[in-house]
Amino acid sequence: MSIRICVFDAYGTLFDVAAAAREAAGRPGSGNLSAVWRKLASDWRTKQLEYTWLRTVADAHTDFWTVTENALDWAMEASELADPELRERLLALYFELSAYPEVPDTLAKLRSAGFTTAILSNGEPNMLRGAVESAGVADLLNGILSAEDAGVFKPHRKVYELVGQRFGTQPHEVLFVSSNGWDAAHAAGFGFRSVWVNRANAPMDRLPWEPKQVVRDLSAIPDIAVRNDA
Ligand code: LAC
Repeated sequence: MSIRICVFDAYGTLFDVAAAAREAAGRPGSGNLSAVWRKLASDWRTKQLEYTWLRTVADAHTDFWTVTENALDWAMEASELADPELRERLLALYFELSAYPEVPDTLAKLRSAGFTTAILSNGEPNMLRGAVESAGVADLLNGILSAEDAGVFKPHRKVYELVGQRFGTQPHEVLFVSSNGWDAAHAAGFGFRSVWVNRANAPMDRLPWEPKQVVRDLSAIPDIAVRNDA
């Protein structure tokens, strides 16, 4: 069975989650942020993911923007950055995160090869639209699917099920691409053809499933989809 649709995780995969802290640190008057932005970005992301998993396990869902704000508050306190204006600046930058440079070309190649393209993300719809529009890739996507429609976060299978519900596909017709090792693993467990974009050269997650392919960035994805090799 051939791949029909290519579905991307958003944060960390299409959009650079460290970009908000990095860009804020590069602006005049950023104070101590220039010294600690890497720790802030890392804590922000780690807590954001932990809170999604904890809220899903505890059956205490809230939207991903709230989770992102909660995680930033934790990360700012951990770095002793008590600055309400900086908080607003970081959130505004997160709403319009930069896409990785290879994103537009990858999506354009997939579309010209006849594949349907979509995002499947924990992100709530407004923030996903903000990032997609600021990256200028809205016209290259056939759909933006949000975990909000499932009321839980990845890796709950209800989120992966949104793809079939929207596009009428079977899991083995879906090429799923994520830079989050756990997401790529659980997508493989769900039955998607899964590729891990291992941008950080991290070890493989020790989970019951593994993605079939590991790549360093998105540029190999169109070839993988055409070769039906995942
Ligand atoms: C997402 C997070 C997991 O976009 O990166 O769903």
